[in-house]
Amino acid sequence: MYFRQIHRFTGIAILALGFAGAPVAKGQDLTKVQGPNACSECHKDESAAWQESHHFKTFREMPRNPKGKEIAQRMGIRRIKSEGLCLSCHFTVQQTKNKPKVVAGIACESCHGAGGDWIKVHSGFSGKTEATETPAEEAARWAQSDQLGMIRTASIYRIAKNCFSCHVVPQEDLVNVGGHSIGSQFDLVSWSQGEVRHNTWYSKGASNQEADVNRKRILYVIGLAVEIETALRSIAKANARKLYAFKMAQRADVARKKLAQAASAVPNVPELAKIVQLSHTAGLKLNNAAALNAAAESIAQISVGFTSKYDGSQLAGIDGLIPGPQTYKGAARQ
Ligand code: HEC
Ligand code: HEC
Ligand code: HEC
Ligand code: HEC
Repeated sequence: MYFRQIHRFTGIAILALGFAGAPVAKGQDLTKVQGPNACSECHKDESAAWQESHHFKTFREMPRNPKGKEIAQRMGIRRIKSEGLCLSCHFTVQQTKNKPKVVAGIACESCHGAGGDWIKVHSGFSGKTEATETPAEEAARWAQSDQLGMIRTASIYRIAKNCFSCHVVPQEDLVNVGGHSIGSQFDLVSWSQGEVRHNTWYSKGASNQEADVNRKRILYVIGLAVEIETALRSIAKANARKLYAFKMAQRADVARKKLAQAASAVPNVPELAKIVQLSHTAGLKLNNAAALNAAAESIAQISVGFTSKYDGSQLAGIDGLIPGPQTYKGAARQ
């Protein structure tokens, strides 16, 4: 157990590198999706927590929602569950024999990556048992799982990228024409520590603890950095001086102001100020894709480097800025 904890932690340094541009779960290969039942076989407590969340319930509820029908109609979509646009963010799709099938709402693999290549590797204890696998073998097993597309607890940057790939909506028409929101008022701490929380595996179901203080610090600043990155990329895609462009620019600006506050609270951590500065190198305006994407790319690189350099203990200065339990979205299963 001791080694497991250590490796989960040092895993940050090993695997954070080189993932900045890697595809996130949303663009995943449908033939590799196993579906949540395959995970729940072993992960009963995590599954029980998931089943109480909006991510689970949206499967049945969204297509019946009058607002969903309205959006679909404006987008010329007749069946919400069989056309691509809504599927990528609202559902888990699995490739069955000859056609794709919607098997769940937003499920395990929407967040942890499609399991096909890593499901056996991550749980196999390198062909030994939990007691006989050496620490080196364990580290290699996790590194291999990461390479095969697993998004683990240690990979905070990849987790954040993935949440924001759905919680910021980068489709201009869906917003301007369809009337869909541009995403959620999303903050990584409060949105991950409420109903989404399922830290029940390593305690064998005994508790569902919050992320610890150091992890929350990293979640908070990486959440903001990824929000800025995502918003800049989204503005780069805008063509019309309408709601989408306006709201995305506002989003980037709000997030970089928050990150600037964090940066001045921890002058010993220069990366945060650097990210804020980079976000000002590209005007938040139309016809500026090259500069916006370049800034986003640099921000991504610094964010990835940040997660391998800091473990959170250096960031005590920002504790007053981190949203507290009263802001957590939904109730965590106990
Ligand atoms: C055969 C049982 C089994 C199945 C099926 C299974 N897991 Fe696991 N899972 C495990 C074991 C065992 C571990 C812990 C390994 C360890 O302690 O080193 C684990 C650990 C994890 C972790 C924690 C990794 C970390 O960061 O420490 C995640 C996330 C996870 N599994 C997700 C999934 C998902 C998603 C699926 C379905 C695609 C799945 N698992 C299917 C047995 C399984
Ligand atoms: C880029 C990801 C993304 C895409 C694509 C997307 N949605 Fe959403 N949708 C979201 C998110 C995130 C929310 C939650 C927003 C919030 O927090 O307020 C949401 C919320 C909704 C809601 C309100 C919440 C509810 O279920 O009661 C409806 C209705 C909806 N979406 C319908 C659609 C339809 C219909 C499509 C396809 C035409 C679609 N969405 C495409 C991400 C997306
Ligand atoms: C909304 C995204 C999301 C979904 C859906 C999701 N997870 Fe997770 N999972 C996470 C995050 C984020 C963490 C890291 C926890 C943290 O930061 O507090 C995590 C942690 C875990 C862990 C480690 C728990 C521990 O005790 O440390 C396991 C195991 C796991 N998830 C399995 C699953 C399984 C199985 C499912 C489906 C039944 C699932 N997850 C669904 C995002 C998700
Ligand atoms: C595949 C797309 C997708 C991913 C990845 C994703 N979400 Fe979501 N999430 C949604 C959609 C869509 C909804 C709205 C569901 C509904 O209510 O119909 C939602 C709803 C939520 C809610 C409930 C919000 C409310 O109104 O109460 C929380 C909390 C949440 N997500 C947190 C997270 C976190 C944290 C992560 C990353 C660890 C994450 N989500 C990853 C698509 C996603």
